[in-house]
Amino acid sequence: MKTMDKSSVVKNALARKVVTEKHLLERVAQSPFCLRLHATYMDENFIYILTEVAECGDLMEHMINLNIIPYINARYYTACLCLGIAHCHQAKFVHRDVKPENCLVFANGRVKLGDFGLSKELPYSVDLGDGTRSVCTLAFTMCGTPEFLAPEFIFSRGYDQRVDWWAFGCVLYEMLFAASPFVTNDLKTTFTRICDAASGKLPSNMKDDLSQTDESAASFLRGLICNKETRLAGSGNLGEITEHQYFDNFRWDQFRAETMKPPPVPPNKVLEAKPDFAGFFQNEISPFEGDNSEFAGFV
Ligand SMILES: Nc1ncnc2c1ncn2[C@@H]1O[C@H](COP(=O)(O)OP(=O)(O)OP(=O)(O)O)[C@@H](O)[C@H]1O
Ligand SMILES: [Mg+2]
Repeated sequence: MKTMDKSSVVKNALARKVVTEKHLLERVAQSPFCLRLHATYMDENFIYILTEVAECGDLMEHMINLNIIPYINARYYTACLCLGIAHCHQAKFVHRDVKPENCLVFANGRVKLGDFGLSKELPYSVDLGDGTRSVCTLAFTMCGTPEFLAPEFIFSRGYDQRVDWWAFGCVLYEMLFAASPFVTNDLKTTFTRICDAASGKLPSNMKDDLSQTDESAASFLRGLICNKETRLAGSGNLGEITEHQYFDNFRWDQFRAETMKPPPVPPNKVLEAKPDFAGFFQNEISPFEGDNSEFAGFV
C-alpha cells in the first residue's frame, strides 16, 4: 500500500501526478507484467494506492545480493520487462522511470514493472487557449533517474516511448555487468557519455564489457542503447526485441504459459516479515485543510 499525505502532495504540486498514476495503473491492470492495482482510497488526510505485493522486493535489491545476474536469468527478467513496457505503450503512455528499483520481483519468479509515478500519457492533447485542442506526440519534461535517461531527454527537443527502450537496455546491462553503463560521480560527465552513445561513441567501460560478453547480448544492448532512429522496437514493432537473436531458443510459448522454469527467487519478504507496530500510530497527524478538489477523480 502506497500512502501519501495529502498536505505534502499539494505542497509539492503533485496532485495531478498522483491522479495520473492511478489512471495509468488502471489501464495496465490486465497486464501480467505490470504491477496490478487493487484499489485506491482517500480519507481526510491521506490517499492510498493498494497494489498487489511483490513478495521478493525489487530487482535492485536482488542485484545487490547477487552482484551480477546470470545470463539465462537476466534473459527471463528481460522477457518480463519488455512485455511490461510494451503494455504501457499499448495503453498509450510512456513509463519514464524504467530502472531496477521499479522492477518488482514476485514469488513465482516473475518480474513486473511498477511505479507509474512519472508516467505520462502519450500522445496527449493540449488546450490551445482558443477553444481548440492539438494532439502532441512528444513530451518535453526532463524527469527520471540520470543514469537511465535516454539522450533525447538531454537534447531537450522532445521524446516519446523510445526512451523506455533505452532505459530497458540500461537495466539489462546492469543485470549483466553490475553497473549502469553511464554512471559517474559527476552528472555532467554522465550526460556527456549518454549523448556520445547516441552518436555511436560508447564509453570505454561499456566497449570492454560488450567485447567480453556473448555476441547476441552485445548486439541486443547496442540495438537498445543507441540513437532513437535505429533503436529496437522504436517504430512500435516489439518483434524486433522478442525475435532478436538474443532470444534465440527462448520458448516464448512456454514463458507466456508459465511452464518455463523461472530463475531461483530471492527470499520471500512477506513470509519472513515480523511486523513491529509499536509506536506506529503515535505520530501526530495534522489535519489536511487544503482543497480536496485537487484530488478529483482519485476515487
Ligand atoms: N507492490 C510492491 N510490493 C513490494 N515492494 C514494493 C511495491 N511497490 C513498491 N515497492 C518497493 O518500494 C519502493 C518504492 O516504491 P515506488 O517505486 O512505487 O515509489 P517511489 O515513488 O519510487 O518511492 P520513493 O520515493 O520511496 O522512491 C520500490 O523500489 C520497491 O522496492
Ligand atoms: Mg520508484
